[in-house]
Amino acid sequence: MERENRLIGKKLIHFDVIDSTNEYAKKNFINLENGTVILSDEQTKGKGRAGRGFISNKGGLYFSVIYHSKLEISKLPLYTQLASIAVFKALEEIDIKAHIKWPNDLYINKYKICGILTELIQFKDFNGVIMGIGINIKNTRDEFMKANILASSIEEETKIKIDSKLLLERILYHLDAIFLDFETNRDFEKYKTLLIENSMIIGKEIALDIGNENVIAKALDIDKYGNLIIDVNGERRALNSGEVHIRM
Ligand code: BTN
Repeated sequence: MERENRLIGKKLIHFDVIDSTNEYAKKNFINLENGTVILSDEQTKGKGRAGRGFISNKGGLYFSVIYHSKLEISKLPLYTQLASIAVFKALEEIDIKAHIKWPNDLYINKYKICGILTELIQFKDFNGVIMGIGINIKNTRDEFMKANILASSIEEETKIKIDSKLLLERILYHLDAIFLDFETNRDFEKYKTLLIENSMIIGKEIALDIGNENVIAKALDIDKYGNLIIDVNGERRALNSGEVHIRM
């Protein structure tokens, strides 16, 4: 597939097994070209959000994208939500309907099938983004159950046979287009509709951990800054992705 005219995925480094593609990206960031993708068939120490792990057995797609951004650091967490749109669109193209759980997961049939971990490094002239995406393609519910995790894979949930290589290509294509557009126009507003219409949580009662506080709230909206708007006992609050964990 034509990657020559694109930034993201023009270079791809492929491992059979690695500890974590995000860790590799972090350690080697300055030596890797902007847009490089690090892919592994398996990870022995997959990293999730908030210090959690990410089960990364064979059968999934685990990759990290090196991205140089000129945007101010406060805008960079939005790249997580933009990446969820890229995965959503690539799945839609192969007739798979997923739901997006703000800010960084995709679900099918109430089971998590994709997680996204964005890590940031500040440099003098630009900000470094490491966009780590893990997608369960062929893994089984049982694999996750053993670790007490409610997750599954695309094939297990849809019974559709996935061409992982093609799926990766389509995700990289959308990441490239969406990141370039956001970097240039800085307009998150236009992505909101897709995030809201295909949300797993908007319009629903959810349980959240906000720092040490546990609350039950109704998820109302996503604002133009990418914050989740919730209603807690009649009080409207805007949450940014760094401060909150939604329990499912
Ligand atoms: C989460 O669900 O909390 C985020 C999971 C992110 C997993 C991906 S897999 C590729 C990349 N390398 C890692 O170690 N983590 C990310």
